[in-house]
Amino acid sequence: MERRLRWDRRCHGGDATRQPRCVRHQSRGRGSGIMKRILLVQQKGGSAKTTLCVHLAVAAERAGFKTAIIDTDPQGSASAVWGVARGGVAPAVASVIAAELREALDAAEADGYQVVFVDTAPHTAPAIEVVARSVDFAIVPVQPSILDVAATQRTVALLRAAKVPAVAVLTRAPAKRDEETNETEKALAALGLPLLDTWMGERKVYRRALTQGQAVAEFDPASKAAKEIFKLWKEIDQYDITRLGAAA
Ligand SMILES: Nc1ncnc2c1ncn2[C@@H]1O[C@H](COP(=O)(O)OP(=O)(O)OP(=O)(O)O)[C@@H](O)[C@H]1O
Ligand SMILES: [Mg+2]
Repeated sequence: MERRLRWDRRCHGGDATRQPRCVRHQSRGRGSGIMKRILLVQQKGGSAKTTLCVHLAVAAERAGFKTAIIDTDPQGSASAVWGVARGGVAPAVASVIAAELREALDAAEADGYQVVFVDTAPHTAPAIEVVARSVDFAIVPVQPSILDVAATQRTVALLRAAKVPAVAVLTRAPAKRDEETNETEKALAALGLPLLDTWMGERKVYRRALTQGQAVAEFDPASKAAKEIFKLWKEIDQYDITRLGAAA
């Protein structure tokens, strides 16, 4: 594992005997079903995939799960930028090419990781199919805008082709529900993609925390952002995907 991925095993602070409740599912031939493999995917660039990926990973780690991030995006935002700024503090972060993801996930499972979040690049149609076939569950960040909804249609089509159950999360949402959020909700319902109840608001603190290699729970634990990420992780942790079909 370390040879292939250079995990920093010292980073983990979780209790490896605890099993995540998240993503209750039958094993779908993507692993043993013990380690949860969660994809952050959205063809639209800048939809908060990486921001959510690192925040959910920190939330899972703080909840006691041995957690890792695998960055498949050649931009390296989660690994080369945030991971380097973080300097080896858990969760572990590794960068792999899409073709090596399955092997990396299996190695993480052999090393006792319980939850792995996989970050992806935008506009990666051929590679994303390989990536999607290696995970149990996909989270699709959607900003409340018509452009994001259009990209979500393509993302859902890819996930359906890979037979991955998926849910959407509204990102960078305004403080108050507006016409765009209502329209986006309706469009997601029309696509048959369930939307998580917890939204991620548009908040400067996300950018500030990332710059420091932190998550908002570390940078400003009392912030609204820290509370919404905790709530979002809890919702994902308790989500029963057995009731979802492929791409919902
Ligand atoms: N909730 C938020 N509030 C404010 N800024 C945010 C929020 N989420 C993300 N951002 C900022 O928006 C920008 C894009 O976010 P991020 O890099 O996470 O998106 P992405 O989907 O991973 O992008 P890419 O498709 O390029 O990989 C970043 O500058 C990030 O700091
Ligand atoms: Mg990104």
